[in-house]
Amino acid sequence: MEQISDLQKNLLNDVESADTLEALEALRISVLGKKGQITGLLKTLGSMTPEQRKESGPLLNQLKNRIIDAVTVKKDTLEKAGLDARLKKERVDATLPVRPQTQGTIHPVSQVMDELAEIFADLGFAIAEGPDIENNFHNFTALNIPEEHPARQMHDTFYLAEKEESARKVLRTHTSPVQIRTMINQKPPIRIVAPGRTYRSDSDATHTPMFHQVEGLVLDRDIHMGHLKGCLEAFVTAFFEIDHVKMRFRPSYFPFTEPSAELDIGCHFDGDTLRIGEGDDWLEILGCGMVHPKVIANCGIDPDEYQGFAFGCGIDRLAMLKYGMTDLRAFFESDLRWLRHYGFAALDIPTLAGGLSR
Ligand code: PHE
Repeated sequence: MEQISDLQKNLLNDVESADTLEALEALRISVLGKKGQITGLLKTLGSMTPEQRKESGPLLNQLKNRIIDAVTVKKDTLEKAGLDARLKKERVDATLPVRPQTQGTIHPVSQVMDELAEIFADLGFAIAEGPDIENNFHNFTALNIPEEHPARQMHDTFYLAEKEESARKVLRTHTSPVQIRTMINQKPPIRIVAPGRTYRSDSDATHTPMFHQVEGLVLDRDIHMGHLKGCLEAFVTAFFEIDHVKMRFRPSYFPFTEPSAELDIGCHFDGDTLRIGEGDDWLEILGCGMVHPKVIANCGIDPDEYQGFAFGCGIDRLAMLKYGMTDLRAFFESDLRWLRHYGFAALDIPTLAGGLSR
């Protein structure tokens, strides 16, 4: 009995002098753990006579509980002390000035893409996407541009290295392959716009090897050029934020549309400023036409049942016209001065009016 009370005194002392949480935990394990001192003593109960057990059992259990309580109290104290120390050390000086922070801007191409998505969503179009690396089938063949057709040379195509000539992949030269992917994967009626990157080996003030296009495709029963014209008029007036636009279809040629046209819109110079919508000059805006019946058939849809229109428009050029940049190459040079000048506030929700009123 005396032994037990001596042991208790010693152990309580040890607990009290543990000065870190780690030391306390080590002590707890050495006393109460599986191979701990008290655990060991409790194990001896089994080999005692019933009388001895009756006497020692309660004492040992009491000892165990006292130590558990002492450890719990000590742990609490050490934790509180640790927190106090941290609070003192990590105090924040709220009077310090903040570090200067630079806020990024939205690139004009992203801004214009958001505007286009907004305009065409209002007209009931969904957004579609396709890969930048295309195969010949989607970029050319299905679009009625057969091999050896001069139109394949019309686009200065970037080819990827591949052993087999016929399997060579290309960087898509336009967004029109998304038309094909959509018609193969969806049933009409179809109404999509597909914005994205396109590539041609070309570089001057108005051409860069990588540029952006938005493709439009509508496929349904009884679609005609009147629908195309109405749709493009709604798009142009909304995009340039004007009430009326003078426009004309100029006959053109694309292998994947028949008839094909280029859309010109009226404009004039007001001093140095280009005014869009009215005037005696014409600006070429995009290529379009009625989807060629062969293209519709190439996608497994019956061209006698479904007709449609398509258009393809350069996004970067739209941005230049609306926001007044003169050199396309600067778009992709990542010059911070240019980006700060032409970029849009990052935290504003992109809106059409937000665009022009800056
Ligand atoms: N893909 C054509 C181009 O890049 C544009 C276009 C798209 C024309 C759809 C007609 C219909 O020049």
